[in-house]
Amino acid sequence: MAMIVGIPKETFPGERRVAIVPASVPALTKAGLEVVVQAGAGEAAGFPDSQYTQRGARVVGSRQELFAADVVLQVRAAGANRACGQDDLPLLRPGQVLIGMCQPLAEPKIIREFAQRGATVFALELLPRITRAQSMDVLSSMATVAGYRAVILAAAHLPKMFPMLMTAAGTISAAKVFVIGAGVAGLQAIATAKRLGAVVSAYDVRPVVKEQVHSLGAKFVEMGLETAQAEAAGGYARAMDEEFYRKQRQLMAQVAAENDVVICTAAVPGKRAPLLLSAEAVRGMAPGSVIVDLAAESGGNCELSKADQTVLDSGVTIIAPTNPASEAPFHASQMYSRNVTTFLLSLVRNGQFSPDMEDEIVRETLVARDGQVVHPRVRELFDGS
Ligand code: NAI
Repeated sequence: MAMIVGIPKETFPGERRVAIVPASVPALTKAGLEVVVQAGAGEAAGFPDSQYTQRGARVVGSRQELFAADVVLQVRAAGANRACGQDDLPLLRPGQVLIGMCQPLAEPKIIREFAQRGATVFALELLPRITRAQSMDVLSSMATVAGYRAVILAAAHLPKMFPMLMTAAGTISAAKVFVIGAGVAGLQAIATAKRLGAVVSAYDVRPVVKEQVHSLGAKFVEMGLETAQAEAAGGYARAMDEEFYRKQRQLMAQVAAENDVVICTAAVPGKRAPLLLSAEAVRGMAPGSVIVDLAAESGGNCELSKADQTVLDSGVTIIAPTNPASEAPFHASQMYSRNVTTFLLSLVRNGQFSPDMEDEIVRETLVARDGQVVHPRVRELFDGS
């Protein structure tokens, strides 16, 4: 019998993405899988049910029917859907496979509840950043969308235009944009701001990104701070000490004051985002300036950020979206869908679920199996509690 792959409608409040888009269905059916979609699952992203049926999927009306699937693919599951993820617990059965973003390090106890239902859970946030996993890397895909959206938001709120214009009514000078953190989201923010004609500068603790910032036509802001130790294994940033952050905040305040827009993207995996823009720094910016804090979901880089709110302080607008990728749901879903399809197909042999437990990608992402939380980093978060 063909293994059934189910695509539920996302239940996280405001979530508009869907885990699989119609264009990915043929790749799954060709591998011998049957695809079942909950009615309306793709609607908010621009993919009506009819497109899924045209591509060979079956649409079912209820979530209960959907969860009869052997493998359930989601965008936000378990801990990544604090609001409603646990509502699906009664629908799970032993051995059922759940794949999605699950926030296992932030919400280990929710993962334990899913484990106790006997589900086999894969958390895509834990994908190792190795070349072979690049085509499955949902964090990079979603960060790309977020970086783009941050600049679009900033441009819409700034009382200025981004490009330099020479008109009969005089010359308009280009907006100045400063990007803090030049990882995946930051680099896309730089590229987007450049395309809109802004003068862009950026800073990151990892010195290796200087060249990437330059290649996008932006200036790298030299802080004169020692950063040789800032890069950890896998390319992520290491947490720095409080003295480093204090010095950095002083320098950030000076640079922010010279810019119209600051895009904050600085993050350290598994930790609260570093606080890099103080209230004082915000108040040193010209009225009308805009800050978009993409680190809002992990606490924010700006002291005045309030998650999912727009704050106006001394004329400066501070926007802190926690789910920016969901604001470009068509392409965010398309990218997620390609990533998750590649991931799932790497676990399937001859139409059946048969992951290679020795594979680094499987080992790193598998968080729950046979009633247990099996991932050491997740286990150590609740052992003894
Ligand atoms: P992230 O979202 O964890 O962090 C964003 C950025 O903030 C990083 O560049 C980090 O260095 C920076 N940051 C942290 N603390 C900071 C501070 N105090 N001040 C300024 N910046 C600070 O990281 P992201 O974007 O997910 O990826 C980081 C890196 O991982 C990439 O640039 C790349 O080197 C590597 N990577 C590798 C991949 C692969 O090989 N498959 C795929 C994607 C990323």
